[in-house]
Amino acid sequence: MAKKQNFKWKIGEPLPGIEAHTERKLEVIEQYLDVYFDTVTASRRMDTLRITIVDGFCGGGLYQKGNEIRHGSPFALLNAVEKARVRVNADRHKPLEIAAQFYFSDANKLHMAALRDELLKSEFAKRLDDTIILQTGVFEELLPRVLADIKKRQRQGRSFFVLDQWGYVDVPVHCLQQIFSTLDKPEAILTFSIDALLNYLRTDGSGLDGLRQFGVSDSFVKTWHELKDDENFGRATAQRAIMETLARKSGAHFFTPFMMYSKTDKRWMLLAHLSKHQAARDKMLSVHWDQQNHFRHIGKGSLFELGFDHRLAESKDALFSFRDDDEAKLLKELENELPSRVMDNMTNRVLMVEALLSQVGNLTAAQNEMIFRVLQKLAADGELEIEKKGGGRKKPSTMIEVSDTLVRPPQRLLFSKFSS
Ligand SMILES: C[S@@+](CC[C@H](N)C(=O)[O-])C[C@H]1O[C@@H](n2cnc3c(N)ncnc32)[C@H](O)[C@@H]1O
Repeated sequence: MAKKQNFKWKIGEPLPGIEAHTERKLEVIEQYLDVYFDTVTASRRMDTLRITIVDGFCGGGLYQKGNEIRHGSPFALLNAVEKARVRVNADRHKPLEIAAQFYFSDANKLHMAALRDELLKSEFAKRLDDTIILQTGVFEELLPRVLADIKKRQRQGRSFFVLDQWGYVDVPVHCLQQIFSTLDKPEAILTFSIDALLNYLRTDGSGLDGLRQFGVSDSFVKTWHELKDDENFGRATAQRAIMETLARKSGAHFFTPFMMYSKTDKRWMLLAHLSKHQAARDKMLSVHWDQQNHFRHIGKGSLFELGFDHRLAESKDALFSFRDDDEAKLLKELENELPSRVMDNMTNRVLMVEALLSQVGNLTAAQNEMIFRVLQKLAADGELEIEKKGGGRKKPSTMIEVSDTLVRPPQRLLFSKFSS
């Protein structure tokens, strides 16, 4: 039997097989959406949640795994909303309506025809062409119209974008900018095959123009050629340089990037979460910690630098991967690194916890709660005082909250941790 091709759908032909990294990616999206809906529907006063879900690279909807059928991203997204609807209403007197509008698109018309066919056979058939809009087209070209529709329908523009491209060029940076500058409450999950880009540079390297948007400048290429034969270090530094550019240029304030390995392609692939709010970053990290071991990056998880980080040379063999021993190591490292970061960011000996989270949010695998544990230890050691939102000091044993403020005690002359 001919081998079924990955990501190829055609009505009447066998479904593509699902690869392990696609399963992992879908698990992260599904788990994140569970956490997301539980968070955004927490207010008991809310009676309607309006949201738009955009899957710009949706594929044909289903995969084969042995004798089982597996859902691709469009069905995963539809099911996530259905599950949320049941879950959030389970203990409410006043029902909450989730008014979700879906835009599914793909550049391949055979894929879109296959998806329509599967949707027509599904429980979602009645909603087709009503709250489920299918479009054939290149994401970059469809995006402006989709954004205009969201703006028209929703004041706050609450939206969730799944941008699961094949390689790295189909979500140009200006599309991310458009999303994050047009809408107030967008979030996005982006895949980006950094290794495919690096392999391209290794084998060809001409025609850099389309890659400059990702920070691939002449000096990037020069550094990459110097470092590329050092498998881990060369790749890690280049990965981080590209991540840094994406994070900076996207317009999203929070960018949570972790790498996922595809055994079939023998490549590392970036799965990034982009948002405008630190609480969203925190929730995404909770999913990574929960999924333990599937995502990783080279180097430390405590406070890292995006961009070409030469300190990676010292730790080039260390892979950070969200396991229990990684957590213990991360907490120890944070105890050393956080004091100077806090001090550097203080104005008149004061720093809002929320501001600290904004400053370190893109540079750590630590969840807020882990950062809070370290701050609390510093408070217990007398290195910091914690001020409550309405004023007044907190006891060091009381849990820190996002709304608290960190104060450097004036009476201390020797700041052992701060001054080291
Ligand atoms: C990795 S697959 C998507 C898999 C899908 N998200 C899932 O979970 O099943 C990438 C899809 O992007 C489509 N595609 C490629 N270039 C595109 C572009 N510029 N705009 C929109 N879709 C594109 C391909 O036809 C393919 O179906």
